[in-house]
Amino acid sequence: MDKAAVFICLIAFTFINVDAWNTKPFPKDFKFGVATASYQIEGAWNEDGKGENIWDHLCHHGPFVVEHNQTGDIACDSYHKYKEDVAMLKDLGVSHYRFSISWSRLLPTGFADKVNKAGVQYYKNLIKELKANGIEPLVTLYHWDLPQPLQVLGGFLNDNFVDWFGDYAQLCFDLFGDDVSNWLTFNEPISICQQGYGNGRKAPLITSPGIGEYICGKTMMIAHARAWHIYDKEYRSKQKGSVGFVVDSSWYEPNSNKTADIEASEMKLQFVWGMYINPLINGDHSSILKKQIAKRSKQQGFKRSRLPEFTKEEQKYLKGTLDIIGLNHYSTSMVSAQKNPDPDAMGFYVDCEVNEWQADDWEKSGSDWLRVVPWGIRKLLKWIKVNFNNTKILITENGYSDNGEKDLKDDRRIHYVKSYLSNIRDAMDKDGVNVVGYTLWSLMDNFEWNRGYTEKFGLYHVDFNSRNRTRTKKKSADFYKKVIATRCLADKCAA
Ligand SMILES: *[C@@H]1O[C@H](CO)[C@@H](O)[C@H](O)[C@H]1NC(C)=O
Ligand SMILES: *[C@@H]1O[C@H](CO)[C@@H](O)[C@H](O)[C@H]1NC(C)=O
Ligand SMILES: *[C@@H]1O[C@H](CO)[C@@H](O)[C@H](O)[C@H]1NC(C)=O
Ligand SMILES: *[C@@H]1O[C@H](CO)[C@@H](O)[C@H](O)[C@H]1NC(C)=O
Repeated sequence: MDKAAVFICLIAFTFINVDAWNTKPFPKDFKFGVATASYQIEGAWNEDGKGENIWDHLCHHGPFVVEHNQTGDIACDSYHKYKEDVAMLKDLGVSHYRFSISWSRLLPTGFADKVNKAGVQYYKNLIKELKANGIEPLVTLYHWDLPQPLQVLGGFLNDNFVDWFGDYAQLCFDLFGDDVSNWLTFNEPISICQQGYGNGRKAPLITSPGIGEYICGKTMMIAHARAWHIYDKEYRSKQKGSVGFVVDSSWYEPNSNKTADIEASEMKLQFVWGMYINPLINGDHSSILKKQIAKRSKQQGFKRSRLPEFTKEEQKYLKGTLDIIGLNHYSTSMVSAQKNPDPDAMGFYVDCEVNEWQADDWEKSGSDWLRVVPWGIRKLLKWIKVNFNNTKILITENGYSDNGEKDLKDDRRIHYVKSYLSNIRDAMDKDGVNVVGYTLWSLMDNFEWNRGYTEKFGLYHVDFNSRNRTRTKKKSADFYKKVIATRCLADKCAA
């Protein structure tokens, strides 16, 4: 190549590189925020009258499934340091802060007869501090920390759960609804039911694949609808807010263009969305999902499908109870149809008869399940739009983990957030997907469930060895702050 050709190539390369990002500004009303959850940040596990929840119980009494036996006893100590947290939020310039309420901090026994005044005051203070700084609270009612006394009664396997949750939700609407417009009922059904009541990896560690996990799902759907109906009937007209539900979903990319692999991708997506979102929009599980689990249940000798049916009445009660879809998305998997599915296997991860893996050449993160596959989010968003009639989507979590070294120059996190945001912008721009906001996980390093403090997702580093739990800004915080301020992904935004 002569010099001129090299020069042209260089220009072309630079051009392509620049062009790879969508540099169009996000719409004026698009919301940028960050997320946390009560057990992961609050600490103060037994202070001021808070009751024990299932993660307190698990971390203290075992089985010891958390790395290094770490606990959320102190975590980021946000119970005492919430003003500092809000100052960080203010500095970032976020429009909203997604946090969750600890059920057992409000209701120590889980039941609504005894309200813990100090718990009420904590959330009132936090919300007041947010509002004073122009930050909208986005509140998750259930982010995995069920009061232990309700677990003793079976938790999500007890039909009365619907009443317990309804009472708790109503109390929250009553106490905080004048200052909180946007509510999310449950965070991540797969983590709650499939991992809590199926494969037994997360609290309450119940192992009942293909049975307990599906009963949990049914109860959760009806409990969501209970909260939605309470809000709709008694609060919506004066509080004018919304009630959403948060799904955890990867994108499932077919391994080939063979019909079987494309169908495998659709089947896997229906196991996630047809189980949890379809009932709330259309009143029932998707038919593909129902048929698949009924078929396998019958082959296995069950008298009825292991996926419990909704009665006609329940279907009516569920239909149309979703104001907004909350999406937690981190990564993508490849999928293919299983050639010889095991006829005896039971459970969410095997009933679909789909193989799932991540490609070796996808960039790794600090979590074994999280590979960096930015194009996956665009495909998933488009699939949701097509399948759910362009329902509003709020991205409630997306983020990148590292291995927890003190890494303040977190360029890989910046790269992740930038490339995912670019694909989200493409989905809005080119595929017409109705995405109304983005919520980055997480404001700061925190207790990452089974991985304890060994995986870090924060924009702020937290020194868990200091009593002070000192927060230090990482490079990614400044990057995100700039995105929020400019509302685009480039130094010079496109028109
Ligand atoms: C966790 O605690 C249990 C019970 O005290 C103990 O048997 C186990 O060795 C501990 N594991 C670690 C990694 O410290
Ligand atoms: C499937 O077909 C599309 C469109 O023809 C093509 O772009 C894509 O590369 C194919 N995918 C695979 C895995 O063969
Ligand atoms: C889809 O959404 C539009 C606009 O919100 C609505 O008018 C229409 O009835 C919906 N269609 C279905 C099948 O739900
Ligand atoms: C405690 O935290 C505050 C705020 O983050 C910080 O200014 C102070 O230096 C910290 N103190 C110690 C002893 O680390």
